[in-house]
Amino acid sequence: MSRKIGIVSMNYDHWEMGQILASIERNGYEADLIDPRKTILNLEEIYQKEARYKSILGRVERPVLQSGLIILKDLELRGEKVINNSRAIQYGQNKWYTSMLLAKMNIRHPKTICSYTNHAKDIIDQIKDFKYPIVFKPISGGRGEGVSRACCFEEAVEIITVLSNCNVPFYIQEFIHKKDEKGYFDYRVFVVGNEVIGSIRREASENNWKTNICNGGTARKMKMNCELAELAIQAAKAIDADVAGVDIIDSDEGYNVLEVNICPLFRGLYDATGINPAETIGKLLCS
Ligand SMILES: Nc1ncnc2c1ncn2[C@@H]1O[C@H](COP(=O)(O)OP(=O)(O)O)[C@@H](O)[C@H]1O
Ligand SMILES: [Mg+2]
Repeated sequence: MSRKIGIVSMNYDHWEMGQILASIERNGYEADLIDPRKTILNLEEIYQKEARYKSILGRVERPVLQSGLIILKDLELRGEKVINNSRAIQYGQNKWYTSMLLAKMNIRHPKTICSYTNHAKDIIDQIKDFKYPIVFKPISGGRGEGVSRACCFEEAVEIITVLSNCNVPFYIQEFIHKKDEKGYFDYRVFVVGNEVIGSIRREASENNWKTNICNGGTARKMKMNCELAELAIQAAKAIDADVAGVDIIDSDEGYNVLEVNICPLFRGLYDATGINPAETIGKLLCS
């Protein structure tokens, strides 16, 4: 049996990757780095259908999404066990895919539309009955980058009119207005192999509504409850993810799943709770 774990990624110098590599080593396996920018595929390997690895970690980042997905498909066709698989990565790296799959599983998610049209009027017609504020997001993005808010219909019309000339898809969502005395907050729940292994409450910095830690948000320890844990597991399942950071936001109607991060960072979780997802990820890959 192979003692190798393949890792499809372009980032081997991140703290998270360092932790995963160390965990693989502790489990007695050797990591083989498969960088989508440096890999050559050969049909012979698919004809042979012989798995060469114990398993593969798919951690495909957005800049190499196309090539990374092809490599994961290639590895899957060779018979390799891939965690997260190509489907999960394709779904998780696209916010609308995620929205569709959450809706299909009846998981509560903010009211959202998506469009590739550049006809501003058609989009404006669709958002007339939205509750304001609303949020505009890049369909494939992270770290809160490009996520912006329109506080009223008139402001939204202005943004849509400008963006409709930029040839970008629209992803528009109602804003969930839930604050406590410290401001806006949400939950990041880590799921690895069908189990919740840890969670944090993320609090936005003063005068900010985005909770991303790289946007000044703070990670705090929190008490998990069954409803939150079950919801996170269901959301990860909806996109077929084995490893996921599920963002959940509270509302007057109950919890909403905001997004499912398929390549989650976990330094914030580790610093706040001492839980290191790399341990569980390493065990999952090596068992
Ligand atoms: N519909 C929403 N209601 C309330 N807050 C939101 C909403 N969408 C995004 N946010 C805030 O903005 C942050 C970034 O949005 P998110 O959809 O997670 O994009 P990214 O992938 O860039 O992190 C979230 O962590 C949350 O704090
Ligand atoms: Mg996010």
